[in-house]
Amino acid sequence: VKVVLSYSGGLDTSVCLKWFREQGAEPYALYLDLGQGESAQDVEAKALRIGAAGAFVRDAREEFAAEYIAPAIKANALYGGKYPLFTALGRPLIAKKLVEAAREVGATHIAHGSTGKGNDQVRFDVTTASIAPDLKVVAPVRDWNMSRPEEIEYAKRHGIPVPVTKESPYSVDANLWGRSIEAGPLEDPDHEPAEDVFELTTAPEAAPDEPEYVEISFEEGLPTALNGEELELAELIGALNAQAGAHGVGRIDMIEDRLVGIKSREIYEAPAALTIIQAHRELESLTLTKDVLRFKAQVEQRYAELTYDGLWFTPLKSALDAFVEETQKTVTGTVRLKLYKGSSTVAGRSAPRALYNKELATYDPNSTFDESAAAGFITLWGLPARQWAAVNGGQTVP
Ligand code: ARG
Ligand code: SIN
Repeated sequence: VKVVLSYSGGLDTSVCLKWFREQGAEPYALYLDLGQGESAQDVEAKALRIGAAGAFVRDAREEFAAEYIAPAIKANALYGGKYPLFTALGRPLIAKKLVEAAREVGATHIAHGSTGKGNDQVRFDVTTASIAPDLKVVAPVRDWNMSRPEEIEYAKRHGIPVPVTKESPYSVDANLWGRSIEAGPLEDPDHEPAEDVFELTTAPEAAPDEPEYVEISFEEGLPTALNGEELELAELIGALNAQAGAHGVGRIDMIEDRLVGIKSREIYEAPAALTIIQAHRELESLTLTKDVLRFKAQVEQRYAELTYDGLWFTPLKSALDAFVEETQKTVTGTVRLKLYKGSSTVAGRSAPRALYNKELATYDPNSTFDESAAAGFITLWGLPARQWAAVNGGQTVP
Protein backbone atom coordinates (compact mmCIF):
# COMPACT_ATOMS: atom_id res chain seq x y z
CA VAL A 1 0.00 0.00 0.00
CA LYS A 2 1.31 3.42 -0.92
CA VAL A 3 0.40 6.28 1.38
CA VAL A 4 1.30 9.98 1.24
CA LEU A 5 1.69 11.51 4.69
CA SER A 6 1.55 15.21 5.54
CA TYR A 7 4.92 15.39 7.28
CA SER A 8 6.04 18.24 9.53
CA GLY A 9 9.36 16.88 10.73
CA GLY A 10 8.04 16.77 14.29
CA LEU A 11 7.74 13.80 16.61
CA ASP A 12 4.14 12.80 15.80
CA THR A 13 4.52 12.58 12.05
CA SER A 14 8.00 11.06 12.32
CA VAL A 15 6.55 8.25 14.39
CA CYS A 16 3.72 7.93 11.84
CA LEU A 17 6.22 7.53 9.03
CA LYS A 18 8.13 4.75 10.78
CA TRP A 19 4.90 3.11 11.87
CA PHE A 20 3.68 2.92 8.26
CA ARG A 21 6.98 1.26 7.31
CA GLU A 22 6.55 -1.28 10.10
CA GLN A 23 3.05 -2.05 8.91
CA GLY A 24 4.53 -2.92 5.54
CA ALA A 25 3.20 0.17 3.78
CA GLU A 26 5.21 2.33 1.41
CA PRO A 27 5.05 5.83 2.93
CA TYR A 28 5.82 9.05 1.09
CA ALA A 29 6.33 12.30 2.97
CA LEU A 30 4.91 15.62 1.84
CA TYR A 31 6.10 18.88 3.33
CA LEU A 32 4.86 22.29 2.24
CA ASP A 33 6.51 25.56 3.03
CA LEU A 34 3.54 27.78 3.91
CA GLY A 35 5.77 30.33 5.58
CA GLN A 36 6.20 28.55 8.90
CA GLY A 37 9.88 29.45 8.84
CA GLU A 38 11.57 26.04 8.98
CA SER A 39 14.26 24.54 6.80
CA ALA A 40 12.65 22.38 4.12
CA GLN A 41 15.94 20.58 3.39
CA ASP A 42 16.27 19.40 6.99
CA VAL A 43 12.72 18.08 6.95
CA GLU A 44 13.28 16.23 3.68
CA ALA A 45 16.51 14.63 4.89
CA LYS A 46 14.83 13.54 8.09
CA ALA A 47 11.90 11.94 6.25
CA LEU A 48 14.22 9.94 4.02
CA ARG A 49 16.40 8.89 6.95
CA ILE A 50 13.36 7.59 8.84
CA GLY A 51 12.34 5.53 5.86
CA ALA A 52 10.15 7.50 3.50
CA ALA A 53 10.03 5.96 0.02
CA GLY A 54 10.14 9.50 -1.33
CA ALA A 55 9.70 13.07 -0.21
CA PHE A 56 7.66 15.84 -1.79
CA VAL A 57 8.94 19.18 -0.60
CA ARG A 58 7.29 22.23 -2.11
CA ASP A 59 7.42 25.95 -1.55
CA ALA A 60 3.69 26.73 -1.58
CA ARG A 61 3.82 30.25 -0.16
CA GLU A 62 2.73 32.04 -3.33
CA GLU A 63 -0.12 29.64 -3.93
CA PHE A 64 -1.19 29.84 -0.30
CA ALA A 65 -1.24 33.63 -0.47
CA ALA A 66 -2.97 33.87 -3.83
CA GLU A 67 -5.57 31.12 -3.57
CA TYR A 68 -6.33 30.92 0.16
CA ILE A 69 -5.27 34.06 2.00
CA ALA A 70 -6.40 36.46 -0.74
CA PRO A 71 -10.05 35.34 -0.76
CA ALA A 72 -10.01 35.34 3.05
CA ILE A 73 -8.88 38.98 3.02
CA LYS A 74 -11.64 39.96 0.61
CA ALA A 75 -14.11 38.21 2.91
CA ASN A 76 -12.59 39.73 6.10
CA ALA A 77 -12.62 36.16 7.37
CA LEU A 78 -12.40 36.03 11.17
CA TYR A 79 -13.87 33.08 13.04
CA GLY A 80 -15.71 34.14 16.16
CA GLY A 81 -14.91 37.68 15.05
CA LYS A 82 -11.29 37.14 16.14
CA TYR A 83 -9.34 34.22 14.65
CA PRO A 84 -7.95 34.86 11.14
CA LEU A 85 -8.14 31.17 10.25
CA PHE A 86 -4.54 30.58 9.17
CA THR A 87 -4.52 26.89 10.12
CA ALA A 88 -7.98 26.38 8.66
CA LEU A 89 -6.85 27.98 5.37
CA GLY A 90 -3.67 25.89 5.20
CA ARG A 91 -5.32 22.49 5.58
CA PRO A 92 -7.28 22.42 2.31
CA LEU A 93 -4.09 23.38 0.43
CA ILE A 94 -2.12 20.60 2.16
CA ALA A 95 -4.92 18.14 1.39
CA LYS A 96 -4.92 19.22 -2.25
CA LYS A 97 -1.16 18.66 -2.49
CA LEU A 98 -1.47 15.29 -0.76
CA VAL A 99 -3.98 14.28 -3.41
CA GLU A 100 -1.70 15.49 -6.23
CA ALA A 101 1.22 13.55 -4.79
CA ALA A 102 -0.94 10.46 -4.33
CA ARG A 103 -1.89 10.64 -8.02
CA GLU A 104 1.77 11.00 -8.98
CA VAL A 105 2.97 7.88 -7.15
CA GLY A 106 -0.25 5.92 -7.48
CA ALA A 107 -1.07 5.93 -3.76
CA THR A 108 -4.46 4.78 -2.53
CA HIS A 109 -4.18 6.46 0.87
CA ILE A 110 -3.24 9.80 2.29
CA ALA A 111 -2.44 10.43 5.95
CA HIS A 112 -2.06 13.23 8.47
CA GLY A 113 -0.93 13.56 12.08
CA SER A 114 -3.99 15.24 13.59
CA THR A 115 -5.42 14.12 16.88
CA GLY A 116 -9.06 13.11 17.35
CA LYS A 117 -9.88 16.22 19.36
CA GLY A 118 -9.45 18.95 16.86
CA ASN A 119 -10.66 20.58 13.68
CA ASP A 120 -7.72 19.62 11.52
CA GLN A 121 -8.75 15.98 11.12
CA VAL A 122 -12.11 17.16 9.77
CA ARG A 123 -10.49 19.59 7.35
CA PHE A 124 -8.13 16.99 5.88
CA ASP A 125 -10.83 14.40 5.62
CA VAL A 126 -13.63 16.52 4.22
CA THR A 127 -11.38 18.31 1.73
CA THR A 128 -10.18 14.95 0.42
CA ALA A 129 -13.74 13.67 0.26
CA SER A 130 -14.67 16.74 -1.83
CA ILE A 131 -11.84 16.59 -4.34
CA ALA A 132 -10.74 12.92 -4.43
CA PRO A 133 -13.53 10.72 -3.06
CA ASP A 134 -11.71 7.53 -4.09
CA LEU A 135 -8.76 8.13 -1.74
CA LYS A 136 -8.78 6.83 1.83
CA VAL A 137 -7.60 9.07 4.65
CA VAL A 138 -5.79 7.65 7.66
CA ALA A 139 -4.94 9.41 10.92
CA PRO A 140 -2.55 7.16 12.88
CA VAL A 141 -2.09 9.53 15.84
CA ARG A 142 -5.85 9.57 16.33
CA ASP A 143 -6.23 5.84 15.96
CA TRP A 144 -3.26 4.29 17.74
CA ASN A 145 -3.78 5.95 21.15
CA MET A 146 -0.07 6.25 21.99
CA SER A 147 0.70 8.55 24.88
CA ARG A 148 3.45 11.12 24.55
CA PRO A 149 5.97 9.05 26.58
CA GLU A 150 5.07 5.98 24.51
CA GLU A 151 5.72 7.93 21.32
CA ILE A 152 9.09 9.09 22.63
CA GLU A 153 9.93 5.52 23.62
CA TYR A 154 8.90 4.28 20.17
CA ALA A 155 10.98 7.00 18.52
CA LYS A 156 14.07 6.15 20.55
CA ARG A 157 13.70 2.45 19.79
CA HIS A 158 13.58 3.21 16.07
CA GLY A 159 16.38 5.73 15.96
CA ILE A 160 14.12 8.68 15.30
CA PRO A 161 15.80 11.81 16.62
CA VAL A 162 13.90 13.16 19.63
CA PRO A 163 14.51 16.78 20.59
CA VAL A 164 17.10 16.71 23.39
CA THR A 165 16.12 20.07 24.83
CA LYS A 166 13.41 20.04 27.45
CA GLU A 167 10.22 19.73 25.48
CA SER A 168 8.12 22.86 25.19
CA PRO A 169 4.78 22.47 26.95
CA TYR A 170 3.08 24.24 24.06
CA SER A 171 1.62 22.97 20.81
CA VAL A 172 2.37 25.40 18.01
CA ASP A 173 1.16 25.69 14.45
CA ALA A 174 2.32 28.47 12.17
CA ASN A 175 2.26 29.77 8.63
CA LEU A 176 2.43 33.06 6.77
CA TRP A 177 -0.98 34.20 8.04
CA GLY A 178 -0.42 33.54 11.74
CA ARG A 179 0.75 31.38 14.60
CA SER A 180 -1.20 29.45 17.23
CA ILE A 181 -0.05 28.39 20.67
CA GLU A 182 -2.05 25.85 22.64
CA ALA A 183 -1.77 23.43 25.56
CA GLY A 184 0.32 23.34 28.72
CA PRO A 185 -0.50 26.10 31.20
CA LEU A 186 -2.68 27.82 28.56
CA GLU A 187 -5.35 25.18 29.12
CA ASP A 188 -6.36 27.16 32.19
CA PRO A 189 -8.45 29.93 30.60
CA ASP A 190 -7.76 32.15 33.60
CA HIS A 191 -3.98 31.86 33.18
CA GLU A 192 -2.35 34.81 31.44
CA PRO A 193 0.12 33.60 28.80
CA ALA A 194 3.78 34.00 29.74
CA GLU A 195 5.91 36.04 27.34
CA ASP A 196 7.70 32.89 26.12
CA VAL A 197 4.66 31.78 24.09
CA PHE A 198 5.07 34.72 21.70
CA GLU A 199 7.42 34.82 18.73
CA LEU A 200 5.94 37.25 16.22
CA THR A 201 4.99 40.02 18.62
CA THR A 202 6.88 42.18 21.09
CA ALA A 203 5.22 42.65 24.47
CA PRO A 204 3.25 45.92 24.25
CA GLU A 205 5.08 47.10 27.39
CA ALA A 206 8.42 46.58 25.64
CA ALA A 207 7.34 48.05 22.29
CA PRO A 208 8.78 51.39 21.11
CA ASP A 209 7.62 54.49 22.97
CA GLU A 210 7.07 56.27 19.67
CA PRO A 211 4.10 55.34 17.47
CA GLU A 212 4.73 54.32 13.89
CA TYR A 213 2.47 54.70 10.87
CA VAL A 214 1.95 52.00 8.31
CA GLU A 215 0.22 52.57 4.99
CA ILE A 216 -1.51 49.67 3.28
CA SER A 217 -2.65 50.18 -0.31
CA PHE A 218 -5.28 47.96 -1.88
CA GLU A 219 -6.31 47.21 -5.43
CA GLU A 220 -9.71 45.59 -5.89
CA GLY A 221 -9.72 44.31 -2.36
CA LEU A 222 -6.16 43.03 -2.10
CA PRO A 223 -3.14 44.68 -0.50
CA THR A 224 -0.57 45.53 -3.15
CA ALA A 225 1.76 48.02 -1.46
CA LEU A 226 3.14 48.66 1.98
CA ASN A 227 4.31 52.17 2.86
CA GLY A 228 4.25 53.00 -0.84
CA GLU A 229 6.35 50.02 -1.91
CA GLU A 230 4.70 47.49 -4.20
CA LEU A 231 5.07 43.93 -2.95
CA GLU A 232 3.81 40.46 -3.78
CA LEU A 233 1.16 39.42 -1.29
CA ALA A 234 3.35 36.85 0.50
CA GLU A 235 6.19 39.37 0.88
CA LEU A 236 3.84 42.10 2.00
CA ILE A 237 2.46 39.85 4.71
CA GLY A 238 5.97 38.98 5.89
CA ALA A 239 7.00 42.64 6.05
CA LEU A 240 3.82 43.67 7.85
CA ASN A 241 4.15 40.83 10.35
CA ALA A 242 7.53 42.29 11.27
CA GLN A 243 6.42 45.94 11.37
CA ALA A 244 3.17 45.49 13.29
CA GLY A 245 4.57 42.69 15.47
CA ALA A 246 7.37 44.97 16.65
CA HIS A 247 4.69 47.24 18.13
CA GLY A 248 3.01 44.38 19.95
CA VAL A 249 0.08 44.36 17.54
CA GLY A 250 -1.59 41.07 16.63
CA ARG A 251 -2.09 39.10 19.83
CA ILE A 252 -5.35 37.24 20.31
CA ASP A 253 -6.55 35.33 23.36
CA MET A 254 -9.86 33.58 22.85
CA ILE A 255 -12.19 30.81 23.85
CA GLU A 256 -13.03 29.08 20.61
CA ASP A 257 -15.81 26.70 19.65
CA ARG A 258 -14.30 23.75 17.83
CA LEU A 259 -16.25 21.86 15.25
CA VAL A 260 -16.13 18.73 17.43
CA GLY A 261 -18.02 20.53 20.21
CA ILE A 262 -15.13 21.35 22.52
CA LYS A 263 -14.46 24.86 23.75
CA SER A 264 -10.73 25.47 23.61
CA ARG A 265 -8.49 28.26 24.79
CA GLU A 266 -6.35 29.62 21.98
CA ILE A 267 -3.53 32.09 21.82
CA TYR A 268 -2.77 33.49 18.39
CA GLU A 269 -0.32 35.92 16.88
CA ALA A 270 -1.32 37.42 13.58
CA PRO A 271 0.02 40.98 13.16
CA ALA A 272 -0.35 41.14 9.38
CA ALA A 273 -3.70 39.36 9.22
CA LEU A 274 -5.33 41.62 11.80
CA THR A 275 -3.98 44.87 10.40
CA ILE A 276 -4.77 43.93 6.79
CA ILE A 277 -8.34 43.00 7.65
CA GLN A 278 -8.72 46.13 9.77
CA ALA A 279 -7.50 48.29 6.89
CA HIS A 280 -9.53 46.39 4.31
CA ARG A 281 -12.73 46.86 6.30
CA GLU A 282 -11.97 50.53 6.63
CA LEU A 283 -11.51 50.90 2.90
CA GLU A 284 -14.73 49.01 2.25
CA SER A 285 -16.64 51.37 4.53
CA LEU A 286 -15.41 54.19 2.30
CA THR A 287 -16.12 52.54 -1.06
CA LEU A 288 -19.12 50.21 -0.67
CA THR A 289 -22.77 51.11 -0.27
CA LYS A 290 -24.62 50.71 3.01
CA ASP A 291 -26.62 47.79 1.64
CA VAL A 292 -23.59 45.91 0.35
CA LEU A 293 -21.77 46.42 3.64
CA ARG A 294 -24.68 45.13 5.69
CA PHE A 295 -25.26 42.10 3.54
CA LYS A 296 -21.56 41.34 3.21
CA ALA A 297 -21.20 41.26 7.00
CA GLN A 298 -23.55 38.27 7.08
CA VAL A 299 -21.71 36.60 4.21
CA GLU A 300 -18.40 37.15 6.01
CA GLN A 301 -19.53 35.36 9.11
CA ARG A 302 -20.79 32.38 7.13
CA TYR A 303 -17.60 32.40 5.08
CA ALA A 304 -15.46 32.19 8.21
CA GLU A 305 -17.58 29.34 9.55
CA LEU A 306 -17.30 27.35 6.32
CA THR A 307 -13.54 27.84 6.30
CA TYR A 308 -13.23 26.84 9.93
CA ASP A 309 -15.46 23.81 9.48
CA GLY A 310 -13.43 22.26 6.68
CA LEU A 311 -15.89 23.18 3.92
CA TRP A 312 -13.47 25.16 1.73
CA PHE A 313 -14.04 23.15 -1.44
CA THR A 314 -17.82 23.16 -1.39
CA PRO A 315 -20.54 24.74 -3.56
CA LEU A 316 -21.68 27.26 -0.94
CA LYS A 317 -18.14 28.47 -0.41
CA SER A 318 -17.68 28.92 -4.19
CA ALA A 319 -20.95 30.81 -4.42
CA LEU A 320 -19.97 33.13 -1.57
CA ASP A 321 -16.60 33.72 -3.27
CA ALA A 322 -18.46 34.92 -6.35
CA PHE A 323 -20.49 37.36 -4.27
CA VAL A 324 -17.46 38.68 -2.43
CA GLU A 325 -15.46 39.04 -5.65
CA GLU A 326 -18.23 41.14 -7.18
CA THR A 327 -18.10 43.54 -4.22
CA GLN A 328 -14.36 44.16 -4.49
CA LYS A 329 -14.19 45.93 -7.87
CA THR A 330 -14.12 49.40 -6.34
CA VAL A 331 -12.19 48.57 -3.16
CA THR A 332 -9.03 50.38 -4.18
CA GLY A 333 -7.24 52.92 -2.04
CA THR A 334 -4.94 53.43 0.92
CA VAL A 335 -5.42 53.14 4.66
CA ARG A 336 -2.99 54.55 7.20
CA LEU A 337 -2.74 52.83 10.57
CA LYS A 338 -0.99 54.04 13.68
CA LEU A 339 0.82 51.29 15.57
CA TYR A 340 1.50 51.91 19.20
CA LYS A 341 2.11 49.55 22.13
CA GLY A 342 -0.23 46.76 21.12
CA SER A 343 -2.84 48.84 19.35
CA SER A 344 -3.50 49.59 15.73
CA THR A 345 -5.70 52.61 15.09
CA VAL A 346 -6.99 53.92 11.78
CA ALA A 347 -5.43 57.32 11.20
CA GLY A 348 -6.64 58.00 7.66
CA ARG A 349 -8.10 56.54 4.49
CA SER A 350 -8.43 57.62 0.89
CA ALA A 351 -9.78 56.08 -2.28
CA PRO A 352 -10.21 57.26 -5.87
CA ARG A 353 -13.78 55.98 -5.81
CA ALA A 354 -14.67 56.98 -2.27
CA LEU A 355 -18.42 57.32 -1.75
CA TYR A 356 -17.77 59.82 1.00
CA ASN A 357 -18.64 63.27 -0.30
CA LYS A 358 -17.49 66.18 1.80
CA GLU A 359 -19.86 68.63 0.04
CA LEU A 360 -22.76 66.45 1.16
CA ALA A 361 -21.54 65.64 4.63
CA THR A 362 -20.24 68.99 5.78
CA TYR A 363 -22.05 71.02 8.45
CA ASP A 364 -20.97 74.06 6.52
CA PRO A 365 -24.05 76.08 5.40
CA ASN A 366 -23.20 75.79 1.67
CA SER A 367 -23.48 71.99 1.73
CA THR A 368 -25.01 70.43 -1.40
CA PHE A 369 -27.30 68.30 0.76
CA ASP A 370 -30.92 69.51 0.39
CA GLU A 371 -32.13 69.79 3.97
CA SER A 372 -35.63 70.78 2.87
CA ALA A 373 -36.01 67.26 1.46
CA ALA A 374 -35.42 65.78 4.91
CA ALA A 375 -38.78 66.76 6.41
CA GLY A 376 -40.83 64.96 3.73
CA PHE A 377 -38.58 61.93 3.91
CA ILE A 378 -39.04 61.67 7.68
CA THR A 379 -42.84 61.98 7.36
CA LEU A 380 -42.97 58.91 5.15
CA TRP A 381 -40.24 57.02 7.00
CA GLY A 382 -42.12 57.48 10.29
CA LEU A 383 -45.57 56.80 8.83
CA PRO A 384 -45.88 53.19 10.09
CA ALA A 385 -44.75 54.20 13.59
CA ARG A 386 -47.18 57.13 13.67
CA GLN A 387 -50.03 54.95 12.45
CA TRP A 388 -49.30 52.24 15.03
CA ALA A 389 -49.26 54.82 17.81
CA ALA A 390 -52.55 56.37 16.61
CA VAL A 391 -54.32 52.99 16.67
CA ASN A 392 -52.76 51.58 19.85
CA GLY A 393 -52.23 54.66 21.93
CA GLY A 394 -48.48 54.69 21.57
CA GLN A 395 -45.73 52.27 22.44
CA THR A 396 -45.31 51.81 26.19
CA VAL A 397 -42.07 53.31 27.40
CA PRO A 398 -40.57 51.61 30.46
N1 ARG B 1 -7.76 26.25 16.70
C1 ARG B 1 -7.19 26.58 15.45
C2 ARG B 1 -7.94 25.92 14.33
O1 ARG B 1 -8.69 25.05 14.56
C3 ARG B 1 -5.71 26.27 15.41
C4 ARG B 1 -5.40 24.80 15.36
C5 ARG B 1 -3.94 24.56 15.37
N2 ARG B 1 -3.67 23.24 14.89
C6 ARG B 1 -2.71 22.47 15.36
N3 ARG B 1 -2.57 21.29 14.84
N4 ARG B 1 -1.91 22.86 16.30
O2 ARG B 1 -7.82 26.30 13.20
C1 SIN C 1 -4.89 18.58 16.28
O1 SIN C 1 -3.79 18.70 15.74
O2 SIN C 1 -5.61 17.62 16.04
C2 SIN C 1 -5.37 19.58 17.30
C3 SIN C 1 -5.66 20.95 16.78
C4 SIN C 1 -6.91 21.09 15.96
O3 SIN C 1 -7.09 20.34 15.01
O4 SIN C 1 -7.74 21.98 16.22
